[in-house]
Amino acid sequence: MSEKCMIRDVKNHVGGAVTIGCWLYNKRSSGKIQFLQLRDGSGFIQAVVVKSEVGADVWEAASKLTQESSLYVTGSVREDERSQSGYELTVTAIEIIQITEEYPITPKEHGVDFLMDHRHLWLRSPRQRAILVIRAQIIRAIQQFFDERGFHLVDPPILTPSSCEGTTNLFHTKYFDEDAFLTQSGQLYMEAAAMALGRVYSFGPTFRAEKSKTRRHLIEFWMIEPEMAFVDHEENLKIQEQFVAHIVQSVLQHCEKELKVLERDTTRLEKVQAPFPRISYDEAVQFLQKRGMEFTWGEDFGAPHETAIAEQFDKPVFITKYPTEIKAFYMKPDPERPEVVLCADMIAPEGYGEIIGGSQRIDDPQLMEQRFQEHELSKEAYQWYLDLRKYGTVPHSGFGLGLERTVAWICGLDHVRETIPFPRLLYRLYP
Ligand code: 4AD
Ligand code: MG
Repeated sequence: MSEKCMIRDVKNHVGGAVTIGCWLYNKRSSGKIQFLQLRDGSGFIQAVVVKSEVGADVWEAASKLTQESSLYVTGSVREDERSQSGYELTVTAIEIIQITEEYPITPKEHGVDFLMDHRHLWLRSPRQRAILVIRAQIIRAIQQFFDERGFHLVDPPILTPSSCEGTTNLFHTKYFDEDAFLTQSGQLYMEAAAMALGRVYSFGPTFRAEKSKTRRHLIEFWMIEPEMAFVDHEENLKIQEQFVAHIVQSVLQHCEKELKVLERDTTRLEKVQAPFPRISYDEAVQFLQKRGMEFTWGEDFGAPHETAIAEQFDKPVFITKYPTEIKAFYMKPDPERPEVVLCADMIAPEGYGEIIGGSQRIDDPQLMEQRFQEHELSKEAYQWYLDLRKYGTVPHSGFGLGLERTVAWICGLDHVRETIPFPRLLYRLYP
């Protein structure tokens, strides 16, 4: 009798017989032996069909199998050092579920547009599988980090009446007779939650109608947003560096096989340990100018600036204290220099750009009122937010980590489009 088994568990059945539900990924034949490369989502394994040892029906079934045909295969498990998985299956029976005809994605090279049009099938490739497995591990590491440190997961709304990060890239929709927007960030709601639960984090989709077509921008992306009462700028940075180091080390520990499939240079990831270097916005400006790059104090950094700065370090780097003018209305000014705010962007190494934006928030009710006037924000729409400064205001800080940019960096990918199962890009809403 054979036991039903997933490929990842065959190691527990050496010498025994198993049945695996799977797809044919590739096939080689020598005339007397067929080598079936099988995948079931949990892993890959080679199954060997020996003509002289199986019935004619089994040999014929194996001969019929095409790329992405679905089947149940039964066989005995052998340890095999030469094979990639460490195990091999000697086939005794095959039950075909479906013979696939003309699978569109062949082992030859395809263009990006073609692959994106077939994203629903492209996901089956070893490379795309490896990325999604690492993405899932990153999410697991994130939740573990916060859950072990007394944070509570809180879910902010997705349909909102007003903006968080400025009005230029809001997705508009109708909410019956009212206007509504898809959330750009849950932060303002997380501030309310932090006043109720102390330390909280959210994990959910956010939307930016940005007309940018870069390798770092998605229209729909997932963000992790912790918010912490009684935490200042300095402590905020400490938590961020521990957090990011934890994510990277967790992927190194649990995803060795997947990183190998992606041919990721892991020596660069091993260096990602706290503390991370810090430079101020002022120092960054001086550095860029010394390098002969055109840049004036008061401008925001573009991708080439961020890359030039990050290249100086082999860990992520914090750029701190940006000009008040170019940052969000809620950031707390530096008490010693109100023209800059107590904020930091974390820039990933190897040219992956900003992965975290965070800050200490304004806790003073008068200053918050003043910012509302300067930014012409409707006090009516945000009355609830102003209430947070009215009823027991406290120093607090938080940040947002972009999941897809983090996945792109850790996996070493050229573009964020491969970091999410079904990317929403400037000109792509299919599939
Ligand atoms: O810097 P951002 O805009 O910060 C906020 O939204 C704050 N409210 C977060 C907070 O303090 N709670 O976005 C945070 C991160 C960026 O550093 C980046 O990693 C990611 O979100 N991000 C994007 N990722 C993919 N595509 C886009 N269009 C992104 N925009 C931001
Ligand atoms: Mg930002």
